Formats: sequence, structure tokens, C-alpha cells
Amino acid sequence: MGLRPFRRILVTGGAGFIGSHFVRLLLALDVPEVVVLDKLTYAGSLLDLEDVLDDPRVRFLHGDIADPAAVTEAIAGCDAVVNFAAETHVDRSLLAPAAFIQTNVWGTMVLLEQALRVGVQRFLHVSTDEVYGEILVGAAREADPLRPRNPYAASKAAAEHFVFSYWTSYGLPVLVTRGCNTYGPYQYPEKFIPLAITNLLSGQPVPIYGDGLQERDWLYVEDHCHAIWTVLVHGKPGDTYNIGASQHRPNIEVARAVVRLLNADPAAIVHVADRPGHDRRYAVDWSKLAALGWTPRTPFEEGLARTVTWYRHRADWWTARRDEAFAQYYAQNYGNRSVPSSEPCR
Ligand code: NAD
Ligand code: DAU
Repeated sequence: MGLRPFRRILVTGGAGFIGSHFVRLLLALDVPEVVVLDKLTYAGSLLDLEDVLDDPRVRFLHGDIADPAAVTEAIAGCDAVVNFAAETHVDRSLLAPAAFIQTNVWGTMVLLEQALRVGVQRFLHVSTDEVYGEILVGAAREADPLRPRNPYAASKAAAEHFVFSYWTSYGLPVLVTRGCNTYGPYQYPEKFIPLAITNLLSGQPVPIYGDGLQERDWLYVEDHCHAIWTVLVHGKPGDTYNIGASQHRPNIEVARAVVRLLNADPAAIVHVADRPGHDRRYAVDWSKLAALGWTPRTPFEEGLARTVTWYRHRADWWTARRDEAFAQYYAQNYGNRSVPSSEPCR
């Protein structure tokens, strides 16, 4: 049977960075009802949904994907689930991995169980290119082995295995996307690009792990959301789709670009001790998704300029997010990395 138009979609983690943009996209696409289930961890905030919370098509539920009662309430009447909810920061997974297993693995299991029970048309699990591990040359294809190398990536890979097991064991129509590094407005300032921008705007240095020559492929958040929608509507159940941008940049170049856009002092960029087990490079081949008709639209320089402008104008948003808890995390993660006393990058 063909796919019927979606009537009610459950978006977990919809008060986070990519999830909140996805909620906006669904509303722009005239999806009749959107249910957001979010635990509002340090990374989630109703501020991320500020412009859509009053929309009568949006129902926000404060709850945990690992709590069957919360999921039962949220999923009622839904014909699709898009699972963004996760612990997402690699550095935090190195400091305290337990929450990553609880939410990313166990929480996904709870969602799968409930999705099977209500019989959704589609269950799209948002995964990451990090599951392949570092790709020093070339680009990973969907059938390549998974070799996650940090606790965050390992939890995402574990979750994927459970997702596929519900396809092969029970026929739940699952889809998995493996997206590359995403950036744009409303990204919590622990991540590299918003950290660089908000540090510079607060007169603080930009910490570069190690030599700064690690490469990431940078995808603008709206392009990532369109890719997920494309897979939700046109993807084949049981399949995986890489999402890439083919816009690789070494970290040091990204930091320099941010410095230029803010007319800041290049000496604000400082090398600090590297992230343990730091993956040198990620890269995915996204031709399978391109064959469904998707292509990224935002050149990196344009998306970065837009992002910097947004943070410049939204000090209200990011100062609220850089609260006491953020300061504690910052001290824990960067305190013994000698941020201000390091040599400036040349
Ligand atoms: P984020 O950290 O900004 O948001 C995560 C959201 O999930 C937050 O709103 C948080 O409150 C919520 N959440 C966490 N634990 C929860 C739980 N137990 N129950 C309910 N809600 C919970 O993350 P993001 O960057 O928007 O990433 C979203 C998804 O995309 C994640 O699954 C991540 O692995 C994946 N992803 C992210 C990127 C990226 O570069 N940001 C790239 C590829 C894939
Ligand atoms: O590749 C997709 C993944 O991208 C997502 O699955 C993750 O959820 C997301 O957090 C991101 O992971 P990264 O570890 O690549 O992103 P992060 O923004 O933490 O770091 C980007 C690069 O910048 C990485 O090579 C580490 C480096 N970095 C990061 C921070 C926070 C620094 O040099 N200094 C920093 O202070």
C-alpha cells in the first residue's frame, strides 16, 4: 500500500537544534498536526520553538523518550515518528557516557516498541555520519561497516542496530539517516561553530583542539531538515541514507572564517589539548539520497554568514543558554586544557 499523507507526526527532541527547525519545516509543509516530545535537557529549550509554540497545530509534551508512559501519550494517533531526541555532544560523552546509553539506546528502544504497538506508517531515526568512525580518505557508503570510536557515536550505532532489528524482526517501516555536521541558528553553544561565535562575542578565545586540521563536512540546518523530509516521504523502508554537504573544511579554517565575519582579532584563536580519540575526518557519499531528488542548497560561506548574523542579533537567546550550568560544563571540559594561555594559531 502507498504512503498516505501524514496527519500527525511525532517529533522527539523537537525543542533542540535540528528538531526545532524540522518542526518549522513541517508547519511550512502544511502537516496538520505536530506533536513534540522533549525532555528539555540542558540542550533543549522552549526558546528554540519560540515562534511556533502558539501554533494550534503544535502540541508540546514535556517528557522522556525512555519513559513508556510519556511515549504512549505522545504517540497516540501519530502516523509517523521522527526521532531526533538524543544526547548529542561528543565531549560530554567522554566525560559521562551513561546518559548516552540511557537516551540514545534505551530511549530509542522504548520508542520502537510504542511505534510498533500503534502501527505507524514510518519511523525515521536520525543518526549520524559518526557511526562510520573516521574516514581518512574517500567517503563512506551506507553499506560500509560501522566503526564508531567515541561513546556518543557508539550509542548512535547501537541504536541503529535496534532500529533495523525492528524492521527485520517485526516489519516496522523504519528509515535511518546519517547526517554530517550541521550548523545554523538555535544551535546550543557547546558545539564548535556556535561556541566560536558566542565566545568571540563575549570576548573569549576560540579553543581549537589539537592542530585544528581535523575535517568536518558542514551542512546548513535547513538543508538537513529537507533531507530528512525527503527520506521520510520517498525513502524505502528498511533503508539507510547518508546526508552530506560536500563542504569539507578543516576546523582551523572554520574558526578563521568566523573571526573574519566578526572582525575579531585572529589571536583569539588558540590551540588547546586535543579531544581524546578525536576523529580526524568524516565523509559520506550521499548519492543514494541525491537519487531521491535532494541536494544541499546552502553554500558554507553563505550559511556561516547567516548564522553569525543570527547570533549577533540574538544575544538574548544565547546569553540565556550560556547559563550557570553551561559555565560549569565549560570549566569541566576546558579547565584543564589551558585555553587562554595557549599559543595563538598561525
Ligand atoms: P540537540 O542536542 O540540539 O537536541 C537534542 C534534543 O533532544 C534536546 O531538545 C533535548 O532536550 C532532547 N532530549 C535529550 N534527551 C531526551 C530524552 N531522553 N527524551 C526526550 N528528549 C530528549 O541535538 P541536535 O544537534 O539537534 O541533534 C538532533 C539529532 O540529530 C540527534 O539524534 C543527533 O544525534 C543527530 N545529528 C546531529 C548532527 C549535528 O551536527 N548537530 C548531525 C547528525 C546527526
Ligand atoms: O558528524 C555529525 C556529528 O557532528 C553529530 O552527530 C554530533 O551530534 C555533533 O555534535 C557533531 O559532532 P562533532 O564532534 O564533529 O562536533 P563539534 O561541534 O563538537 O566539533 C566539531 C569539530 O570541532 C570537531 O573536530 C572538534 C572540534 N572542536 C570542537 C569544540 C567544541 C574544537 O576544535 N574545539 C572545540 O571547542
